[in-house]
Amino acid sequence: MRTRTTAVKRTAVLAAGLGLTMALAACGQNAAAPSSGGSAPSAAAPAAGGTKVGVILPETQSSARWEGFDKPLLTAAMQAEGLDADIQNAQGDEQKFSTLADGMISSGVKVLVIASISSESGAAVAAKAKAQGIPTIDYDRLSLGGTSDYYVSFDNEKVGALQGQGLADALKAKQGAQVIEIAGAPTDNNATLFSDGANSVLKPLYDSGALKLVQKQPIPDWDNQVGGTTFEQILTGNGGKVDGVLAANDGLAGAVITVLTKYGLNGQVPVTGQDATPDGLQAILRGDQYMTVYKPIKQEADSTAKLAAALAKGDTAAADALATGSVDDTKGNRQVKSVLLTPQSITKDNVKTVIDEGQVKASEVCVGDLQATCQQLSINAS
Ligand code: GAL
Repeated sequence: MRTRTTAVKRTAVLAAGLGLTMALAACGQNAAAPSSGGSAPSAAAPAAGGTKVGVILPETQSSARWEGFDKPLLTAAMQAEGLDADIQNAQGDEQKFSTLADGMISSGVKVLVIASISSESGAAVAAKAKAQGIPTIDYDRLSLGGTSDYYVSFDNEKVGALQGQGLADALKAKQGAQVIEIAGAPTDNNATLFSDGANSVLKPLYDSGALKLVQKQPIPDWDNQVGGTTFEQILTGNGGKVDGVLAANDGLAGAVITVLTKYGLNGQVPVTGQDATPDGLQAILRGDQYMTVYKPIKQEADSTAKLAAALAKGDTAAADALATGSVDDTKGNRQVKSVLLTPQSITKDNVKTVIDEGQVKASEVCVGDLQATCQQLSINAS
Protein backbone atom coordinates (compact mmCIF):
# COMPACT_ATOMS: atom_id res chain seq x y z
CA MET A 1 0.00 0.00 0.00
CA ARG A 2 2.94 2.36 0.05
CA THR A 3 4.65 4.43 -2.52
CA ARG A 4 8.29 5.27 -2.49
CA THR A 5 10.08 8.14 -4.09
CA THR A 6 12.73 7.16 -6.54
CA ALA A 7 15.55 9.43 -7.44
CA VAL A 8 14.79 10.40 -10.99
CA LYS A 9 15.99 13.95 -10.71
CA ARG A 10 16.03 16.06 -13.75
CA THR A 11 18.63 18.72 -14.02
CA ALA A 12 17.80 22.22 -12.96
CA VAL A 13 19.57 23.30 -16.14
CA LEU A 14 17.03 21.52 -18.29
CA ALA A 15 14.13 22.93 -16.30
CA ALA A 16 15.61 26.42 -16.36
CA GLY A 17 16.25 26.11 -20.07
CA LEU A 18 12.56 25.48 -20.58
CA GLY A 19 11.72 28.52 -18.51
CA LEU A 20 9.99 26.43 -15.87
CA THR A 21 9.73 27.24 -12.22
CA MET A 22 10.25 23.77 -10.82
CA ALA A 23 13.86 24.51 -10.01
CA LEU A 24 12.62 27.23 -7.68
CA ALA A 25 10.09 24.91 -6.10
CA ALA A 26 12.77 22.29 -5.52
CA CYS A 27 14.73 24.87 -3.55
CA GLY A 28 11.80 25.24 -1.19
CA GLN A 29 10.88 28.68 -2.48
CA ASN A 30 7.42 29.72 -3.42
CA ALA A 31 7.22 29.03 -7.12
CA ALA A 32 5.88 32.50 -7.64
CA ALA A 33 7.44 33.31 -10.97
CA PRO A 34 4.73 34.17 -13.46
CA SER A 35 4.74 32.27 -16.70
CA SER A 36 5.45 35.35 -18.71
CA GLY A 37 7.57 35.51 -21.80
CA GLY A 38 10.71 33.80 -22.92
CA SER A 39 9.86 30.19 -22.23
CA ALA A 40 9.85 27.67 -25.01
CA PRO A 41 6.30 26.41 -24.42
CA SER A 42 4.68 29.84 -24.31
CA ALA A 43 6.78 31.04 -27.24
CA ALA A 44 5.52 28.12 -29.34
CA ALA A 45 1.89 29.07 -28.89
CA PRO A 46 -0.08 31.56 -26.87
CA ALA A 47 -1.19 30.17 -23.50
CA ALA A 48 -4.16 27.92 -24.04
CA GLY A 49 -6.67 30.74 -23.59
CA GLY A 50 -10.07 29.48 -22.61
CA THR A 51 -8.94 25.87 -22.66
CA LYS A 52 -11.15 23.99 -20.24
CA VAL A 53 -9.66 22.06 -17.34
CA GLY A 54 -11.69 20.19 -14.71
CA VAL A 55 -10.57 19.94 -11.09
CA ILE A 56 -12.30 17.74 -8.50
CA LEU A 57 -11.42 18.20 -4.82
CA PRO A 58 -12.34 15.43 -2.37
CA GLU A 59 -14.26 16.91 0.56
CA THR A 60 -14.45 19.85 2.93
CA GLN A 61 -14.90 18.30 6.36
CA SER A 62 -11.50 16.59 6.62
CA SER A 63 -9.48 19.76 6.44
CA ALA A 64 -9.89 23.48 5.92
CA ARG A 65 -7.18 23.27 3.27
CA TRP A 66 -9.33 22.20 0.33
CA GLU A 67 -11.67 25.18 0.22
CA GLY A 68 -9.38 27.57 2.13
CA PHE A 69 -6.10 27.07 0.24
CA ASP A 70 -6.42 24.71 -2.72
CA LYS A 71 -9.49 26.17 -4.38
CA PRO A 72 -8.40 29.84 -4.49
CA LEU A 73 -4.76 29.02 -5.29
CA LEU A 74 -5.70 26.59 -8.08
CA THR A 75 -8.12 29.15 -9.49
CA ALA A 76 -5.34 31.77 -9.63
CA ALA A 77 -2.71 29.37 -10.95
CA MET A 78 -4.94 28.05 -13.75
CA GLN A 79 -5.88 31.60 -14.74
CA ALA A 80 -2.21 32.57 -14.88
CA GLU A 81 -1.69 29.72 -17.35
CA GLY A 82 -4.61 30.91 -19.49
CA LEU A 83 -6.75 27.93 -18.49
CA ASP A 84 -10.44 28.05 -17.79
CA ALA A 85 -10.77 25.86 -14.70
CA ASP A 86 -13.99 24.35 -13.41
CA ILE A 87 -13.18 23.51 -9.76
CA GLN A 88 -15.72 21.40 -7.87
CA ASN A 89 -15.75 19.61 -4.53
CA ALA A 90 -17.20 16.09 -4.22
CA GLN A 91 -18.00 16.63 -0.50
CA GLY A 92 -16.77 13.17 0.44
CA ASP A 93 -19.31 11.46 -1.82
CA GLU A 94 -17.74 8.99 -4.26
CA GLN A 95 -20.88 8.91 -6.39
CA LYS A 96 -20.78 12.69 -6.67
CA PHE A 97 -17.07 12.49 -7.51
CA SER A 98 -17.89 10.23 -10.43
CA THR A 99 -20.86 12.33 -11.58
CA LEU A 100 -18.79 15.52 -11.48
CA ALA A 101 -16.15 13.79 -13.61
CA ASP A 102 -18.78 12.67 -16.14
CA GLY A 103 -20.06 16.23 -16.41
CA MET A 104 -16.57 17.64 -16.92
CA ILE A 105 -15.66 15.02 -19.50
CA SER A 106 -18.78 15.70 -21.53
CA SER A 107 -18.26 19.47 -21.22
CA GLY A 108 -15.02 19.05 -23.17
CA VAL A 109 -12.26 19.50 -20.59
CA LYS A 110 -8.80 18.98 -22.07
CA VAL A 111 -7.29 17.83 -18.76
CA LEU A 112 -8.83 16.44 -15.57
CA VAL A 113 -7.18 17.05 -12.18
CA ILE A 114 -8.38 14.81 -9.34
CA ALA A 115 -7.79 14.69 -5.59
CA SER A 116 -9.43 11.36 -4.94
CA ILE A 117 -11.55 10.23 -1.98
CA SER A 118 -10.28 6.68 -2.38
CA SER A 119 -7.85 5.01 -4.77
CA GLU A 120 -10.65 2.92 -6.29
CA SER A 121 -12.97 5.79 -7.16
CA GLY A 122 -10.04 7.94 -8.32
CA ALA A 123 -8.76 5.16 -10.56
CA ALA A 124 -12.25 4.60 -12.03
CA VAL A 125 -12.52 8.28 -12.98
CA ALA A 126 -9.01 8.35 -14.47
CA ALA A 127 -9.86 5.29 -16.56
CA LYS A 128 -13.03 6.93 -17.90
CA ALA A 129 -11.10 10.08 -18.84
CA LYS A 130 -8.39 8.02 -20.50
CA ALA A 131 -10.97 6.21 -22.59
CA GLN A 132 -11.94 9.64 -23.97
CA GLY A 133 -8.30 10.60 -24.57
CA ILE A 134 -8.26 13.09 -21.69
CA PRO A 135 -5.04 13.16 -19.65
CA THR A 136 -5.41 13.17 -15.86
CA ILE A 137 -3.27 14.51 -13.02
CA ASP A 138 -3.53 13.02 -9.52
CA TYR A 139 -3.54 16.04 -7.24
CA ASP A 140 -2.17 15.59 -3.70
CA ARG A 141 -3.44 12.01 -3.35
CA LEU A 142 -2.20 9.20 -5.57
CA SER A 143 -4.86 6.72 -6.67
CA LEU A 144 -3.12 3.38 -6.33
CA GLY A 145 -3.82 1.13 -9.32
CA GLY A 146 -4.82 4.20 -11.34
CA THR A 147 -3.78 5.44 -14.76
CA SER A 148 -3.11 9.13 -14.19
CA ASP A 149 -0.29 10.49 -16.28
CA TYR A 150 1.22 12.66 -13.52
CA TYR A 151 1.10 13.12 -9.76
CA VAL A 152 1.67 16.40 -7.90
CA SER A 153 2.01 16.32 -4.13
CA PHE A 154 4.34 16.77 -1.19
CA ASP A 155 6.79 14.22 0.12
CA ASN A 156 4.16 12.58 2.29
CA GLU A 157 6.43 10.21 4.19
CA LYS A 158 8.45 13.28 5.12
CA VAL A 159 5.22 14.89 6.42
CA GLY A 160 4.75 11.93 8.78
CA ALA A 161 8.40 11.92 9.79
CA LEU A 162 8.15 15.61 10.75
CA GLN A 163 5.09 14.81 12.88
CA GLY A 164 6.83 11.87 14.57
CA GLN A 165 9.96 13.93 15.17
CA GLY A 166 7.90 16.81 16.59
CA LEU A 167 6.25 14.51 19.09
CA ALA A 168 9.54 12.83 19.99
CA ASP A 169 11.15 16.25 20.60
CA ALA A 170 8.26 17.41 22.76
CA LEU A 171 8.36 14.23 24.89
CA LYS A 172 12.15 13.89 25.07
CA ALA A 173 12.34 14.45 28.79
CA LYS A 174 9.49 12.04 29.66
CA GLN A 175 10.79 8.48 29.70
CA GLY A 176 7.94 6.03 28.96
CA ALA A 177 5.54 8.81 27.92
CA GLN A 178 2.18 7.44 26.81
CA VAL A 179 1.17 8.22 23.23
CA ILE A 180 -2.19 7.95 21.46
CA GLU A 181 -2.18 8.05 17.64
CA ILE A 182 -5.19 9.39 15.74
CA ALA A 183 -4.44 8.64 12.09
CA GLY A 184 -6.10 9.66 8.81
CA ALA A 185 -8.54 7.79 6.57
CA PRO A 186 -7.42 4.27 5.65
CA THR A 187 -8.80 4.88 2.13
CA ASP A 188 -6.44 7.84 1.57
CA ASN A 189 -3.03 6.65 0.37
CA ASN A 190 -1.49 9.76 1.94
CA ALA A 191 -2.67 8.65 5.38
CA THR A 192 -0.69 5.45 4.92
CA LEU A 193 2.38 7.44 3.94
CA PHE A 194 2.00 9.84 6.89
CA SER A 195 1.78 6.82 9.20
CA ASP A 196 4.81 5.14 7.63
CA GLY A 197 6.81 8.35 8.01
CA ALA A 198 5.80 8.86 11.64
CA ASN A 199 6.55 5.22 12.38
CA SER A 200 10.07 5.58 11.03
CA VAL A 201 10.72 7.92 13.96
CA LEU A 202 8.41 6.56 16.67
CA LYS A 203 8.68 2.78 16.30
CA PRO A 204 12.28 2.62 17.51
CA LEU A 205 11.24 4.73 20.51
CA TYR A 206 8.29 2.41 21.26
CA ASP A 207 10.60 -0.59 20.86
CA SER A 208 13.18 0.82 23.27
CA GLY A 209 10.54 1.82 25.84
CA ALA A 210 11.39 5.53 25.55
CA LEU A 211 7.75 6.01 24.56
CA LYS A 212 4.72 3.78 25.05
CA LEU A 213 2.00 3.44 22.40
CA VAL A 214 -1.39 3.26 24.11
CA GLN A 215 -3.36 2.81 20.89
CA LYS A 216 -3.36 3.85 17.27
CA GLN A 217 -6.67 4.42 15.50
CA PRO A 218 -7.26 5.39 11.86
CA ILE A 219 -10.31 7.64 11.37
CA PRO A 220 -12.60 6.85 8.40
CA ASP A 221 -12.99 9.82 6.03
CA TRP A 222 -10.73 11.89 8.31
CA ASP A 223 -13.99 12.72 10.11
CA ASN A 224 -12.98 15.20 12.80
CA GLN A 225 -15.97 14.48 15.05
CA VAL A 226 -15.35 10.76 14.94
CA GLY A 227 -11.70 11.56 15.67
CA GLY A 228 -12.72 13.38 18.85
CA THR A 229 -15.05 10.67 20.16
CA THR A 230 -12.53 7.96 19.30
CA PHE A 231 -9.79 9.82 21.15
CA GLU A 232 -12.04 10.31 24.18
CA GLN A 233 -12.82 6.59 24.33
CA ILE A 234 -9.16 5.68 24.17
CA LEU A 235 -8.30 8.30 26.78
CA THR A 236 -10.94 7.20 29.27
CA GLY A 237 -10.08 3.54 28.55
CA ASN A 238 -6.55 4.38 29.61
CA GLY A 239 -7.67 5.86 32.92
CA GLY A 240 -7.48 9.43 31.61
CA LYS A 241 -3.73 9.16 31.08
CA VAL A 242 -1.98 10.51 27.99
CA ASP A 243 1.33 12.35 27.53
CA GLY A 244 1.32 13.03 23.79
CA VAL A 245 -0.95 12.70 20.75
CA LEU A 246 0.08 12.07 17.16
CA ALA A 247 -2.85 13.61 15.28
CA ALA A 248 -2.53 13.33 11.51
CA ASN A 249 -3.89 16.76 10.62
CA ASP A 250 -5.04 20.02 12.18
CA GLY A 251 -8.71 19.06 12.01
CA LEU A 252 -8.13 15.90 14.03
CA ALA A 253 -5.79 17.82 16.34
CA GLY A 254 -8.56 20.35 17.00
CA ALA A 255 -10.97 17.56 17.94
CA VAL A 256 -8.36 16.04 20.25
CA ILE A 257 -7.68 19.42 21.89
CA THR A 258 -11.41 19.89 22.56
CA VAL A 259 -11.38 16.60 24.48
CA LEU A 260 -8.13 17.44 26.29
CA THR A 261 -9.67 20.77 27.32
CA LYS A 262 -12.70 18.96 28.74
CA TYR A 263 -10.35 16.96 30.98
CA GLY A 264 -8.18 19.98 31.88
CA LEU A 265 -5.21 18.54 29.97
CA ASN A 266 -4.84 21.00 27.10
CA GLY A 267 -1.50 22.76 26.98
CA GLN A 268 0.15 19.95 28.95
CA VAL A 269 -0.09 17.27 26.28
CA PRO A 270 1.74 17.94 22.99
CA VAL A 271 -0.43 17.33 19.92
CA THR A 272 0.81 17.23 16.31
CA GLY A 273 -1.06 18.38 13.22
CA GLN A 274 -0.83 19.11 9.52
CA ASP A 275 -1.94 21.70 6.98
CA ALA A 276 -1.08 24.92 8.86
CA THR A 277 -4.73 25.94 8.94
CA PRO A 278 -5.73 29.16 10.74
CA ASP A 279 -7.25 27.06 13.57
CA GLY A 280 -4.11 24.94 13.82
CA LEU A 281 -1.84 27.99 13.94
CA GLN A 282 -4.02 29.57 16.63
CA ALA A 283 -3.86 26.38 18.70
CA ILE A 284 -0.06 26.47 18.40
CA LEU A 285 0.10 30.10 19.52
CA ARG A 286 -2.15 29.23 22.50
CA GLY A 287 0.17 26.36 23.44
CA ASP A 288 -2.54 23.73 22.93
CA GLN A 289 -0.94 22.22 19.80
CA TYR A 290 2.78 21.54 19.58
CA MET A 291 3.32 21.59 15.83
CA THR A 292 1.77 21.46 12.40
CA VAL A 293 3.18 20.64 8.98
CA TYR A 294 3.15 23.50 6.50
CA LYS A 295 2.68 22.50 2.89
CA PRO A 296 2.96 25.56 0.62
CA ILE A 297 -0.14 24.90 -1.49
CA LYS A 298 0.78 27.68 -3.90
CA GLN A 299 3.66 25.53 -5.13
CA GLU A 300 1.34 22.54 -5.52
CA ALA A 301 -1.27 24.60 -7.40
CA ASP A 302 1.33 26.31 -9.63
CA SER A 303 2.99 23.01 -10.55
CA THR A 304 -0.38 21.47 -11.36
CA ALA A 305 -1.45 24.39 -13.54
CA LYS A 306 1.83 24.31 -15.49
CA LEU A 307 1.47 20.57 -16.04
CA ALA A 308 -2.15 21.01 -17.10
CA ALA A 309 -1.19 23.77 -19.54
CA ALA A 310 1.47 21.57 -21.13
CA LEU A 311 -0.87 18.56 -21.34
CA ALA A 312 -3.71 20.65 -22.76
CA LYS A 313 -1.38 21.50 -25.63
CA GLY A 314 -0.35 17.88 -26.00
CA ASP A 315 3.21 18.91 -25.12
CA THR A 316 4.28 15.84 -23.14
CA ALA A 317 7.97 16.79 -23.42
CA ALA A 318 7.27 20.02 -21.51
CA ALA A 319 5.12 18.10 -19.00
CA ASP A 320 7.86 15.51 -18.48
CA ALA A 321 10.40 18.26 -17.91
CA LEU A 322 8.25 19.59 -15.07
CA ALA A 323 8.35 16.26 -13.21
CA THR A 324 11.04 16.16 -10.53
CA GLY A 325 10.93 12.38 -10.01
CA SER A 326 8.55 9.48 -9.90
CA VAL A 327 6.67 7.46 -7.33
CA ASP A 328 6.07 3.78 -7.32
CA ASP A 329 2.42 2.74 -7.57
CA THR A 330 2.77 -0.64 -5.92
CA LYS A 331 -0.76 -1.70 -6.76
CA GLY A 332 -0.56 -0.75 -10.42
CA ASN A 333 3.08 -1.84 -10.67
CA ARG A 334 4.17 1.30 -12.42
CA GLN A 335 6.17 4.46 -11.93
CA VAL A 336 4.12 7.65 -11.97
CA LYS A 337 5.92 10.82 -13.07
CA SER A 338 5.68 13.21 -10.18
CA VAL A 339 6.34 16.62 -8.74
CA LEU A 340 6.98 16.12 -5.02
CA LEU A 341 7.31 19.28 -2.96
CA THR A 342 8.90 19.83 0.43
CA PRO A 343 6.85 20.09 3.65
CA GLN A 344 8.06 22.10 6.64
CA SER A 345 7.59 21.66 10.39
CA ILE A 346 5.98 24.62 12.18
CA THR A 347 6.11 25.24 15.93
CA LYS A 348 5.40 28.44 17.84
CA ASP A 349 8.82 29.85 16.85
CA ASN A 350 8.13 29.85 13.13
CA VAL A 351 4.35 30.29 12.76
CA LYS A 352 5.45 33.60 11.23
CA THR A 353 6.80 31.78 8.14
CA VAL A 354 3.33 30.61 7.08
CA ILE A 355 1.98 34.15 7.39
CA ASP A 356 4.98 35.85 5.76
CA GLU A 357 4.64 33.49 2.78
CA GLY A 358 0.98 34.48 2.45
CA GLN A 359 -0.76 31.10 2.84
CA VAL A 360 -2.63 32.39 5.91
CA LYS A 361 -3.33 36.03 6.75
CA ALA A 362 -2.30 37.52 10.10
CA SER A 363 -5.89 38.74 10.44
CA GLU A 364 -7.11 35.10 10.41
CA VAL A 365 -4.82 34.17 13.29
CA CYS A 366 -3.96 37.20 15.39
CA VAL A 367 -7.37 37.93 16.88
CA GLY A 368 -8.63 38.47 20.43
CA ASP A 369 -6.39 36.98 23.08
CA LEU A 370 -3.74 36.09 20.49
CA GLN A 371 -2.90 39.65 19.44
CA ALA A 372 -0.27 40.03 22.15
CA THR A 373 1.37 36.69 21.29
CA CYS A 374 1.50 37.70 17.62
CA GLN A 375 3.19 40.95 18.58
CA GLN A 376 5.78 39.15 20.68
CA LEU A 377 6.55 36.89 17.72
CA SER A 378 6.68 39.85 15.30
CA ILE A 379 3.80 38.47 13.27
CA ASN A 380 2.49 41.44 11.39
CA ALA A 381 -0.41 42.00 9.08
CA SER A 382 0.88 41.54 5.54
C1 GAL B 1 -4.55 14.33 2.89
C2 GAL B 1 -3.87 15.58 2.57
C3 GAL B 1 -3.70 16.36 3.81
C4 GAL B 1 -4.88 16.35 4.74
C5 GAL B 1 -5.83 15.22 4.57
C6 GAL B 1 -7.23 15.52 4.96
O1 GAL B 1 -4.65 13.52 1.80
O2 GAL B 1 -2.61 15.36 2.00
O3 GAL B 1 -3.27 17.65 3.49
O4 GAL B 1 -5.50 17.53 4.92
O5 GAL B 1 -5.82 14.66 3.33
O6 GAL B 1 -7.92 16.14 3.97
